[in-house]
Amino acid sequence: MSKNIVLIGFMGSGKSMIADALSIRLKRECVSTDRLIEARDSRSISDIFKEKGEAHFRILEHEVIKQVAQRREIIIDCGGGVVINNENLKLLKTNGIVFYLQASLEVVFERIRREDHRPLLKGPDPLGTLRTLYQQRLPLYDQADHIIDANDASIEGPIAEILKRI
Ligand code: S3P
Repeated sequence: MSKNIVLIGFMGSGKSMIADALSIRLKRECVSTDRLIEARDSRSISDIFKEKGEAHFRILEHEVIKQVAQRREIIIDCGGGVVINNENLKLLKTNGIVFYLQASLEVVFERIRREDHRPLLKGPDPLGTLRTLYQQRLPLYDQADHIIDANDASIEGPIAEILKRI
C-alpha cells in the first residue's frame, strides 16, 4: 500500500495520537501539517493566528498541503480546518486515502476544554464557537474516503479500523 494515510477531523478527535501510533506500527513517517507550518514560519500556531490572522494561517496550510500531498507512503496528520479549502482534500486524495476521525461535539469539547493552545477557542464562548465550526465542517469531513468512530477514549478501536481498511 503505497498510498498516504491522511487523518482529518475536528480538534480533539485524536488525529495526532492515532497518527503517531500508526507511524510506529506501520514503520512509516508521520508528518503533522501544523508542525510543518510552525517550522516554516518559525512560530507557534497561536502566534501565527495572533500576529498574522487566520487567513494567513490558511495560506501557509495550503502551501504545506501542496507539498505533503505529493509524497507517498507517509501518514499525514492534518489540522482540523484543512477541509475549509476544498482544494486541500482534492490534493490529499491524489496519493492518499483520507480517514475522517468522527467524534461528537460533546466528546471533543470535553477533550479540549482545558487546553489553551487552540487559537480559535480563545474567545468568550468556546462551546458556542466549537458548535458553529462543528456544524459548518460536518459536510466537509464527510467527503473523506472512510469515516472512523473516534468517540472512545482508547485509540485502539480507530487504529484497528484504519488498519483493516488500508
Ligand atoms: C484548527 C485546528 C488546529 C490548528 C489550528 C486551526 C482548526 O489543529 O490547525 O489551530 O481550524 O480546526 P488540530 O485539529 O490538530 O487541533
